[in-house]
Amino acid sequence: MTEHSYVEVKDLRRVFDVSKPWLNRVLEGSEKQYLKAVDGVSFTIAKGETFALVGESGSGKSTVARMVVGLLSPTSGEVAIDGVSMSSRAATAERQRLRRRIQMIFQDPYASLNPRWQVDRIVAEPIRAFRLIESEKDISDRVGELLSLVGLHPADGRKYPHEFSGGQRQRIAIARALASNAEFIVCDEPTSALDVSVQAQILNLMRDLQDRLGLTYLFISHNLAVVRHMASRIGVMYLGRIVEISNGRELFAHPKHPYTRMLLDAVPDVGMTGRQRIPVKGEIPNPINPPSGCTFNPRCPFANDRCRTEIPPLLGGVACHAIHEGRLAIDAAA
Ligand SMILES: Nc1ncnc2c1ncn2[C@@H]1O[C@H](COP(=O)(O)OP(=O)(O)O)[C@@H](O)[C@H]1O
Ligand code: SF4
Ligand SMILES: [Mg+2]
Repeated sequence: MTEHSYVEVKDLRRVFDVSKPWLNRVLEGSEKQYLKAVDGVSFTIAKGETFALVGESGSGKSTVARMVVGLLSPTSGEVAIDGVSMSSRAATAERQRLRRRIQMIFQDPYASLNPRWQVDRIVAEPIRAFRLIESEKDISDRVGELLSLVGLHPADGRKYPHEFSGGQRQRIAIARALASNAEFIVCDEPTSALDVSVQAQILNLMRDLQDRLGLTYLFISHNLAVVRHMASRIGVMYLGRIVEISNGRELFAHPKHPYTRMLLDAVPDVGMTGRQRIPVKGEIPNPINPPSGCTFNPRCPFANDRCRTEIPPLLGGVACHAIHEGRLAIDAAA
């Protein structure tokens, strides 16, 4: 009997030291400066599920992603995958085995593919690194199979990344991620650099692969329309925190947090009639010097004194005093 979810992220925090160099600080008499990129993020993902993080640029999504896959160590908090802690305190052998099962897909596939390698070498690299298949013939067969799986031709393996379009390059990146028999894939804005028509093809491919291979996704995007298509549960991030978390249907039908409502109003094709619209206003504040209390308060039409002093806790899936106090109704879509 296992009690844990497949992915468990608990109270994850990451602070960056963004101070000027020492001598500048001495001459200018300035202090060290710290930026809380991620400030207490928790969520779980069930096996085979897609959990999405959505929020404007700078809200801390990529920092969460990098900590989840172990590319960046957290300042505090825990990531456990299939019951194995990703922290350095955990047994190395166990984490090593886990590595193979976790892969990441980035926004810019060209930057993540070695331009000097032929595609078959790129896709075979995880197979060789993890010594999954011994014979070169079997590796070559497996690479051909992976390329077919992502909608490319086995003969494409002899080409170089620059010979492909953006969408095809993302297919190559997906094939490489699958080469290690990964079961959990962290996708950080995987289609944000692609044309809209190509985006849909790649998203559909990802969903299809999920169904066929039982993959679990952490899917990151600034685009709610994309997230809606992909995720069963969604966390909305603002300045390093999750301000609302719920299943996708609920989030789109009954958004609670004023920031979620604002994001939804910016999505043209969601068709939420009969609901008071909140115009998108303002910019995400400087995270080095965030507003006190609820960090959304300078942009929020419902902010009051309490909002400007007290950080709202995440209760019932939403971090908003106005909702908790009943000042702001949880409205129903028509
Ligand atoms: N290595 C770093 N050093 C300093 N600041 C960073 C670093 N990485 C990210 N940040 C800052 O952390 C915040 C969150 O960044 P990021 O996680 O990339 O957000 P998102 O992916 O949502 O756009 C931003 O203010 C960004 O400038
Ligand atoms: S806590 Fe206050 S400022 Fe923050 S979102 Fe809710 S109403 Fe707006
Ligand atoms: Mg990012």
